[in-house]
Amino acid sequence: MKNGKDLRSKKISRLLELYPFLNAFFEDNLIDIEGKADLTISELLSTIDEEELEDKALDVEKLTESISDYIDQMVEFLGESENNNVYSLTILPGRDKSGSDEKYDPIVINKSEIISIVGPTGSGKSRLLADIEWTAQEDTPTMRKILINDELPDKKWRFSSSNKLVAQLSQNMNFVMDLTVREFLELHAKSRMVEEEQFVIDKIINEANKLAGEKFDPDTPVTSLSGGQSRALMIADTAILSSSPIVLIDEIENAGIDRKKALHLLVGEEKIVLMATHDPLLALMGDKRIVINNGGIKKLINTSDKEREILIDLEGMDQIIQGMRKKLRYGDVLSSEDLRKENKNA
Ligand SMILES: Nc1ncnc2c1ncn2[C@@H]1O[C@H](COP(=O)(O)OP(=O)(O)OP(=O)(O)O)[C@@H](O)[C@H]1O
Ligand SMILES: [Mg+2]
Repeated sequence: MKNGKDLRSKKISRLLELYPFLNAFFEDNLIDIEGKADLTISELLSTIDEEELEDKALDVEKLTESISDYIDQMVEFLGESENNNVYSLTILPGRDKSGSDEKYDPIVINKSEIISIVGPTGSGKSRLLADIEWTAQEDTPTMRKILINDELPDKKWRFSSSNKLVAQLSQNMNFVMDLTVREFLELHAKSRMVEEEQFVIDKIINEANKLAGEKFDPDTPVTSLSGGQSRALMIADTAILSSSPIVLIDEIENAGIDRKKALHLLVGEEKIVLMATHDPLLALMGDKRIVINNGGIKKLINTSDKEREILIDLEGMDQIIQGMRKKLRYGDVLSSEDLRKENKNA
């Protein structure tokens, strides 16, 4: 009990300042500390009536010890994850397909930012994502350099499988293994050492089915999933199982899944997200966009408020198209009446 020594003399408010996570401890143990922040642990206990103390098996000795153990564990845990804490990603210029130097200022992407990558087919969007995945150090065709937290990245990012820097949804993805959806997810959950495995697996299947059109059963072999269904499964899997601080997405638009839902599912608050896209809606959902041409980064554009207004209009138009698509998918014949109605609704 490393922290046990002077816990007793400190006020609750001070303890919370030092260890904000203790709020969760009190909550979990149903100890109400509201309005009692000025008390010490033993003073706090003296405000609780005898019977309740007995019910909860609380006494000063035990409580101090549990708090101390909790702090030790949390500090150890947080300390460990601190090593994996990525707050920025920097892309330094390399060269384009013609071998000319790229002329942009270093691009710094911070935690919680979504960056889209736009450019014609074959221009190098997937290549840029691959540079980031590999934390390129002038050792890819683009000769770009990637920094993590302003520094040359630690080699551990490249070679450790449990400590992955990047979760990637690639453009082309085929399952080759002979497993059912449930078995696949079990394997994955085990390798990530998640607790409540079944709960997490059910959640992934549930979320995936919300993205896909026709629902699939957990006992479906992954090889029998449709393109859109496997994409949906991988998106839900990445969103829910992956703890990687950086998420790379290569086109979610073409799978016929609900792309806005998919993006929301993937974008964790604490993450850095880069997404290559040909879809104007997704492109404008980014905080910024990188424009690529002939293998080189040409510009970095901030999504302006004006563009965000336009995005709202585009979403309206998109709803019309989605509505029509749904009708076609379910065998309806379209009429101009339908179009008028959709237009009104949008
Ligand atoms: N700076 C570069 N130097 C050399 N080769 C490059 C460079 N950038 C991209 N390439 C190569 O160009 C090819 C096309 O790039 P990429 O696959 O990234 O295009 P894309 O923008 O993702 O296209 P799509 O929209 O069709 O997915 C790849 O073989 C890639 O390795
Ligand atoms: Mg591509």
